[in-house]
Amino acid sequence: MTQSPETAFHLYVHWPYCRAKCGYCDFASFVPKRAWDAAAWGAAYEADIAALRGRTGSRELGSVFFGGGTPSLAEPAVIGRVVEAALRAWEPRADLEVTLEANPGTVDKAGLRALRDAGVNRLSVGAQSFDPEDLARLGRIHSVDETKRVLDWAHHIFDRLSFDLITARPGLTPAAWRAELAEALEFAGEHVSIYQLTVEDGTPLSRDVAAGRVTMLDEDTEAEIFEDTRQIMAEAGRPAYEVSNFARPGAECRHNLAIWRGADYGGVGPAAHGRLTLEEGRFATRHAPDPAAWVKGPPPPRLEPLSAEERAREHLMMALRLTEGARAEPFRLRFAADGMADPRELMNPDALAEAVGLGLIESGEDGVRATEQGVMLLNTLTARLLDGERTPR
Ligand SMILES: C[S@@+](CC[C@H](N)C(=O)[O-])C[C@H]1O[C@@H](n2cnc3c(N)ncnc32)[C@H](O)[C@@H]1O
Ligand code: SF4
Repeated sequence: MTQSPETAFHLYVHWPYCRAKCGYCDFASFVPKRAWDAAAWGAAYEADIAALRGRTGSRELGSVFFGGGTPSLAEPAVIGRVVEAALRAWEPRADLEVTLEANPGTVDKAGLRALRDAGVNRLSVGAQSFDPEDLARLGRIHSVDETKRVLDWAHHIFDRLSFDLITARPGLTPAAWRAELAEALEFAGEHVSIYQLTVEDGTPLSRDVAAGRVTMLDEDTEAEIFEDTRQIMAEAGRPAYEVSNFARPGAECRHNLAIWRGADYGGVGPAAHGRLTLEEGRFATRHAPDPAAWVKGPPPPRLEPLSAEERAREHLMMALRLTEGARAEPFRLRFAADGMADPRELMNPDALAEAVGLGLIESGEDGVRATEQGVMLLNTLTARLLDGERTPR
């Protein structure tokens, strides 16, 4: 399948507050000390969007993604102001996707309807686990029953539904996980994200692991769970399209898929990141993380120029996580003017030959992709493939 580089622009909106901080999470999210001023937040997002529009000029808008933090804590009126400001600022595609991440402990049926009426057309629910004890151990503020109730409502209210699960939790057995995933699938919509629990520095989980209070799963069990997950999800009609993301064909998250394929996206809100192609080149953008400072009047983000090679390497790191891999044609269209015509040019030729020989990578004129065996070793594989200088061909 030929594929052109994604030309639309995408908007990421960061909402920084959570009701409680989960023990594993190092996202830019905070428990607010006092109530926030919804009108001030709405006005600050509008100002940030206007400033971003000043930088991007007119662009086709493919998606808006409210992430966090817990954007389902934001008043629907704030969400509505952001959607309207985005629709005014850019030219929305007819199939504009507007996703919002919702924590099941923060929404009721009327709240979900209000979010839909504010313009959200895709809900991503933080389910995390369908095992009550593990859910509590993760430090979540909701029960499994609450998750199920929210998913039932959401099925009726939103056309497009996803939820997040965290697997490879301490003590999890492959058999228990298979049973849990089967139960979760009874509530699934078109899309599910399944992350391996990772120990992030500075989190309560990392302190528990360091002190020996918690033991993470061994590699073999983790690998078995990972393999089982891919098989079960494929059999359930939602094969992996990215390492942690599973969807019915055509129901992929358009926002994330576009970003993984290298599209431009702007970030608004504290700690929001972006990647913008401007007349002067391509830039990584980063907002300062402090919500209290940001809401008083968003300071402009820091813009860091990215060299063509940095862009191409970043592109390949993301693309190799996708089942489709790094496709040759969009890569050529994107980077030929910078002297790079084929993804293989950036890869270490010995590492590439070895990975192909071991059946971990498929490589040809149409692109480079990890095989089922390769996906299991992706981090090591990507590091080795992209290790070293560019190889002239
Ligand atoms: C911003 S949160 C989603 C929305 C909302 N804050 C919630 O938790 O309900 C993004 C997702 O990242 C995943 N996540 C966060 N920290 C993780 C970790 N240390 N290991 C694995 N997954 C993690 C969780 O599945 C979480 O739902
Ligand atoms: S996982 Fe979600 S709810 Fe929990 S602290 Fe992180 S952002 Fe907040």
